[in-house]
Amino acid sequence: MPTEMISFLAQFARSPLATGAIAPSGVPLAERITASIPRSGDPLVVELGPGTGAFTRVIQRRLAGQGRHLALEINPTFAERLAREFPGVDVLEADAGALPGLLAERDLPPAQVIVSGLPWAVFSAQKQREILGSVVEALADDGVFTTFAYQHARWSPPARRLHRNLRELFEEVVVGATVWANLPPAMVYHCRRPIRHLPGEERGASGRHPGPARPGNRSAQRGPEPSRP
Ligand SMILES: C[S@@+](CC[C@H](N)C(=O)[O-])C[C@H]1O[C@@H](n2cnc3c(N)ncnc32)[C@H](O)[C@@H]1O
Repeated sequence: MPTEMISFLAQFARSPLATGAIAPSGVPLAERITASIPRSGDPLVVELGPGTGAFTRVIQRRLAGQGRHLALEINPTFAERLAREFPGVDVLEADAGALPGLLAERDLPPAQVIVSGLPWAVFSAQKQREILGSVVEALADDGVFTTFAYQHARWSPPARRLHRNLRELFEEVVVGATVWANLPPAMVYHCRRPIRHLPGEERGASGRHPGPARPGNRSAQRGPEPSRP
C-alpha cells in the first residue's frame, strides 16, 4: 500500500471527523478541481485541507514554478508531511477560517484561485458558514473558488446546506459532471463572483473588499466543465 494511503488511513483512524474521508482523492478529481488555475501570470493559489497532497501535486504542476501556493492544513502530521514533500508550497498548520488574517499578515493580495479539499459534510452549520465567509473575504473579485462533494451524499442535509450557502455567497455556481473515477465518486462546484455582503449584513473583519452588494443574478447551474482538463 502506498505511504500516502497508509498516512491517510492512520489519520482517519485517529480523527475520522476532522479527516473527513478514508482515502485521498484520485487524480481525475484533482485535475477537475484545479482546472481554473491560470496558465500565465503569477497567481496566488490557496489550498484548504490538502491532506496528503492529492490536489497539491496537480496545483504545483499547473503553476510550473509561477505564482505562489499557500496550503492551510489543520492536522499537524499532514502539514509536516506536506512541507517535506512540497518545498515550493507555503504550508501553514492552520484552520481554513483564519485565511483572511493569514493573507493580511503576509501582505498578500486576494487569492486568484481557492481550492478546497475540506470535509464540509462533517462541519456544523456555523463552521461551514464561518469558513465560507473567510473564502469570500479572501478571494479576488475575478477569482474562482472550487470545492467538491461526494455524489452519494449530495442530498444529505449538510451537502444541501453547502450548495445553498454557495448560491448565497457567489453569483455563479456551476456544478460539474460527476467524477466517477474517484472513490467515492464526487462532483466539483466552480464558484465565481463572490458576494461580499448583503444589505443588513456585516462585512468581513478585514474590510478589504468593500465592493457593492450584488445580490441579483445568482445562478446555480449544471453546466459545461471549465476548459483545460
Ligand atoms: C477529506 S480530506 C481531503 C484531503 C485532500 N485534499 C484530498 O482530497 O485527498 C480533508 C482534509 O481537510 C483537513 N481539514 C479539516 N478541517 C480543516 C480546517 N478547519 N482547516 C484546515 N484543514 C482542515 C483534514 O485534516 C484533511 O486533511
